[in-house]
Amino acid sequence: MKKETLWKTFSEQTFFPTLTKRIEVDVVIIGGGICGISCAQLLSQRGFTVALLESGKIGEGNTGYSSGNIYQTVGVGLSELSKKHGHKSILNILDSRQEAIRHIKENIFKYQIECDFEEVPINLFSALPIYDELIQSELSLAKKYNLKYFKNDLKELPFPISESIKQEKQIQLNPIRYVQGLANSIFSDDCHIFENTTVIGIEEGVDNHLVNAPFGSIKAKYIVHATHIPKGSMHIQEYLEPTREYSIACKLDGPQLKKGIYWGYLMSREIISLRDYQVNGEHFLIVSGFHHKVGEGNEYLKMVELENFVLKFFDVIEFTHQWSGQYYNSSDLIPMIGRRKEKSNIFLATGFSSDGLTYGTSASLIISDQIIGLNSPYSVVFNPSRKIPLKKEIYVGNNNHIHTYLKDIPQGEGSVILDKGHKIAAYKEKENLIQTCSAICTHLGCIVNWNSAEKTWDCPCHGSRFSVSGDIIEGPALYALEKFELKNLDHLEFDDSINKELKSLDQFLS
Ligand SMILES: Cc1cc2nc3c(=O)[nH]c(=O)nc-3n(C[C@H](O)[C@H](O)[C@H](O)COP(=O)(O)OP(=O)(O)OC[C@H]3O[C@@H](n4cnc5c(N)ncnc54)[C@H](O)[C@@H]3O)c2cc1C
Ligand code: FES
Repeated sequence: MKKETLWKTFSEQTFFPTLTKRIEVDVVIIGGGICGISCAQLLSQRGFTVALLESGKIGEGNTGYSSGNIYQTVGVGLSELSKKHGHKSILNILDSRQEAIRHIKENIFKYQIECDFEEVPINLFSALPIYDELIQSELSLAKKYNLKYFKNDLKELPFPISESIKQEKQIQLNPIRYVQGLANSIFSDDCHIFENTTVIGIEEGVDNHLVNAPFGSIKAKYIVHATHIPKGSMHIQEYLEPTREYSIACKLDGPQLKKGIYWGYLMSREIISLRDYQVNGEHFLIVSGFHHKVGEGNEYLKMVELENFVLKFFDVIEFTHQWSGQYYNSSDLIPMIGRRKEKSNIFLATGFSSDGLTYGTSASLIISDQIIGLNSPYSVVFNPSRKIPLKKEIYVGNNNHIHTYLKDIPQGEGSVILDKGHKIAAYKEKENLIQTCSAICTHLGCIVNWNSAEKTWDCPCHGSRFSVSGDIIEGPALYALEKFELKNLDHLEFDDSINKELKSLDQFLS
């Protein structure tokens, strides 16, 4: 089974240059996911010179870890949204999402982007009568907000359905191919795209700003942070809850799942999402779910749970891919899109929850309107400076291990250990080969947690993630974890609670 996304397997590589000089443009966009590339497209189309900087490859950030579903409603549900917000705000949100869907379709036809695009229905279902009320409530709120949902007699899933509704004409695609296709179509002398170019510093000025990368820099009047969560330290990060979610792809024996987006409540209130992906004449079933706050679940066990769920209900020939991705829930359930502060020329786009393919596109429409001086009808509802409640808790994570000996760390696992009061992130690659860094996150100083599924160090506070050698993978941190050399390995402390949890899972499954 490949530990990468299905989308990557079925995409070509992009080869945009790396930034190696100093240039000047109107707008610099940091991040080449759906949000950044869509912003670049709209701004260059409107006559601005643009430079987009992507630390890795275009579309291979969280956009490439999504399920490729594009829909008008919101993952949290209209019922939850309407507990916190009034009629006008919700209408605004749904209108902006509908415009984003229209824009994605237009792009696919205009640029002839081959991204396995399909128009499909979204089906919401409950598999247990206790959740029927949730579906009925979505149906009645959908009427109120002009969403065209109908009652549905869903028969294609391999378990009994208690209640279901559907909305036609939503979209499925391969998200990496869509974003790559868009990037290839807009790349020009006035719309620079740089890959393998990590932003390592931002110098904010009065009229112009300077964005620095290792081998070059860009001077620009406007900056758009399209990095999923803005880089560096910003107040709005305290309103965002970093969350991880898991996906698995497999091939099935016998009939394939009918085309569609399927979201349902099964054994818990949590939504499980299912879809088929057909490519080169083959079918793959993709199932996503089992989310948890960053640093607060055993990632390895979550993946096992997802695999067991699929095995219980489907006739699986082979699991082919597994991956996990991250998203940020804002504490009032609405993304933050627009000017960082009134009159500022720095723009933010974050808090997309699990709906960021659509919200990322909405953000590009809103921000490009604002830069051009148009009054977007959605500026108020998504305004990053609106009054938002702080998130309820500051997360400290619960899977760190700091009480027994370093020798007990299983090979291929990591642990935070104590060395004379210093907290150290230690990864045991092999017996006597330990990689160590400081466990203190370079963003705002929280302690990182070991992620056993991805083999990474994840910060529970604002979701920065680091490789075993301390390099940044994602999140607001701008700098790598500090290197730390251990002198004496024997006296260090460690707790083997991962092993205990694995044993109890084995007992549960047997
Ligand atoms: C399991 C899962 C399933 C999901 N399914 C769906 C779905 O079906 N539909 C949906 O709408 N949403 C879905 N989402 C949410 C969706 O993936 C995200 O909300 C969306 O992709 C965010 O897009 P983005 O462009 O803001 O961020 P990203 O795609 O993460 O792009 C940000 C880019 O910034 C780059 N970057 C970061 N730091 C730097 C730096 N210092 N310098 C330069 N570049 C930098 C990154 O490399 C990255 O490519 C899902 C999420 C998960 C976890
Ligand atoms: S991500 Fe903010 S302290 Fe680590």
